[in-house]
Amino acid sequence: MSDASPPAYTGPRRILSGIQASGALHLGNYLGALKRFVALQDQGDPLFVFVADMHAITVWQDPALLAQQTREIAAAYLASGLDPAKAAIFPQSAVPQHAELAWIFNCVARLGWLDRMTQFKEKSGKHKERSSVGLYTYPVLQAADILLYKATEVPVGEDQKQHLELTRDIAAKFNNDFSAPGFFPLPEPLIQGPGTRVMSLRDGAAKMSKSDPSDASRINLTDDADAISQKIKKSKTDMGVMPEVGAALDDRPEVRNLIAIYAALSDQTRDQVTADFAGQGFGAFKPKLAELAVEALAPITAEMRRLMADPAEIDRVLSAGAEQARNIAAPVVAETKRIVGFWRG
Ligand code: TYM
Repeated sequence: MSDASPPAYTGPRRILSGIQASGALHLGNYLGALKRFVALQDQGDPLFVFVADMHAITVWQDPALLAQQTREIAAAYLASGLDPAKAAIFPQSAVPQHAELAWIFNCVARLGWLDRMTQFKEKSGKHKERSSVGLYTYPVLQAADILLYKATEVPVGEDQKQHLELTRDIAAKFNNDFSAPGFFPLPEPLIQGPGTRVMSLRDGAAKMSKSDPSDASRINLTDDADAISQKIKKSKTDMGVMPEVGAALDDRPEVRNLIAIYAALSDQTRDQVTADFAGQGFGAFKPKLAELAVEALAPITAEMRRLMADPAEIDRVLSAGAEQARNIAAPVVAETKRIVGFWRG
């Protein structure tokens, strides 16, 4: 009797993630991504953390600012505690193999798969026909980012889940169509903990996002202590008090969000937080939350400023990281091209 499932990938564990080079970072990026990357760097597995500048240009970016935005994300990685000795930190565009593999994957992915991507629908809004083709095929480039390094795990926020599912579909179809079982891994999304879906401070139903027109909806990594405290003080809550258990928050999205932020910042569970504040009003909880947020973010903001004042240090890290990345990417793309049947001379 034949076994229906193809042989699994047997390569080493590798962790990879990226952040777009498109403007200011916020608390959602910190809790959903940066903080978790740092936690993963001591597990001894290779870690690749890049700046997605090629993804950034799927919507207009001022060429005079793009390189600076790339440095800013790199500065945020370093300021959050990523160590270039443990993680390859690089700009996506400095590794040409991302684009090369993305083209091959454009020919593997199906239009029907991309038509289902909710992020394209959100970002293109009512003007789909005026969006760039790049914005549409954005998740295919993301699949290339991941599979280029044969990454097995990808720490991301919840909003990236669908892109990870597409990555797995592309890997499986490539392996199957080209009779290369187990060539690409089917990467697992790492979406764990209370910080993977941080919501707006003004609306518990909307994600905290850099594109929200209201600055009060998010805490930026560049906000000073006063701005952070003010935004938390003014954040939307309700007339109730803090519940005793996290499960009692299902119909209180704004309160649930503040508790999740507190839990993520203090490395606690939601239930530990509610147990500490049970029965109290938000007048007691909000200042504590503000204190925690300032304590976590102020050193990062200060270190980002220091690094941005001397871009040479950032550029050295990015150059060394790009070289490391190219060394891994080049043989994977060479092998992929051989599998596809391209001319080799
Ligand atoms: P980007 O730049 O929009 O966001 C970077 C990371 O931050 C997470 N995030 C959040 N987490 C919790 N709450 C929020 N409100 C919140 N907002 C953002 C995102 O989930 C992400 O982890 N397509 C990606 C970048 C990318 C990528 C990749 C990621 C390109 N190639 C390959 C992983 C692997 C993006 O636009 O993320």
